[in-house]
Amino acid sequence: MRTIKSAVTGLMILALSVLFLSACGQRKTTIPEERLIRVGFSQVGSESDWRMANTASMTAALSEANGFELIFDNAKQRQENQLLAIRNFIQQDVDFIVLAPIAESGWDDVLQEAAAAGIPVIIVDRQIDVEDKNLYTSWVGSDFLQEGRTAVHWLEECLREQGREDEPLRILHIQGTDGATAQIMRSRALDEAVEVHPSWEIVAKLPGEYTEAKSYELVRDFLQRGEQIDVVYSENDNMSFGAIRALEEAGIPYGGEGGVMILSFDAVRDALRFCLEGKINLCVECNPLHGPRVASLIRQLDAGEQPAKETYVDETFFSSNTITEEMIEARDY
Ligand code: AHR
Repeated sequence: MRTIKSAVTGLMILALSVLFLSACGQRKTTIPEERLIRVGFSQVGSESDWRMANTASMTAALSEANGFELIFDNAKQRQENQLLAIRNFIQQDVDFIVLAPIAESGWDDVLQEAAAAGIPVIIVDRQIDVEDKNLYTSWVGSDFLQEGRTAVHWLEECLREQGREDEPLRILHIQGTDGATAQIMRSRALDEAVEVHPSWEIVAKLPGEYTEAKSYELVRDFLQRGEQIDVVYSENDNMSFGAIRALEEAGIPYGGEGGVMILSFDAVRDALRFCLEGKINLCVECNPLHGPRVASLIRQLDAGEQPAKETYVDETFFSSNTITEEMIEARDY
């Protein structure tokens, strides 16, 4: 009986300390200036040019010269690796954990462990779906739904200008990693548009996992079945590169005025070059340069300030009709 009682008391103390720490969302003491701030960063992987630019931005901002000791972990696109990395960070008693989550779900338990250890967690890029929002202090990233709506709106305008708004439109939808905010929201924007345009049809949804190789294979096999398409809606640039390779091999005209329209997300440099050459019709920007933003969030939390819970970054788009060499030169990634 006594054992049960003390176990219950122990659990209550743990629950209260989790509550206390998560309500604070910050460490109790400020780290002395002469000491580096120890940050564990769990990165999704290196699946795309966007991701490489994101990693470069994070490692540059969280450098020793800037007062940080960064422990970086590349999860190679596997959530179990991210969970392991976070548990390692907790064991190493880092000052802050930064998580770029592969998918929205599956984080409650591990983030409760981080809260119990008193380690604040910052989420970057995609979002997480946890029951208790106090399990993370802040999130910074893109408005992925808005990105999708920007693409859809551009397509509507383009078809209207060409007098094709009522013609049948066969769309090949190449999706990113299942359950990632970028996938969920960009897909939602297209699904919403198809609902209101009776002549639009999604002929296939292919799980491209944000990689060029996977997208190439899937689009190649799809085209070999003799399917006809008017638009490729590809949820990142690397998957667009794969689709373009498959279209080229199949001898199907793409881009420009009369070819299969390519709508792409990220706007990395190589995609913008394709856009300038007329190979990609539209690049919707997804900004990966979160390093300085995350560094600033850590500094605020360390100073005992309460930063905004959510910060959306500003983004734009580039179309093959309006893009210039100067625009590409002015870009950082
Ligand atoms: O979450 C952002 C997405 O993830 C980018 O669009 C993609 O390129 C990356 O891998």
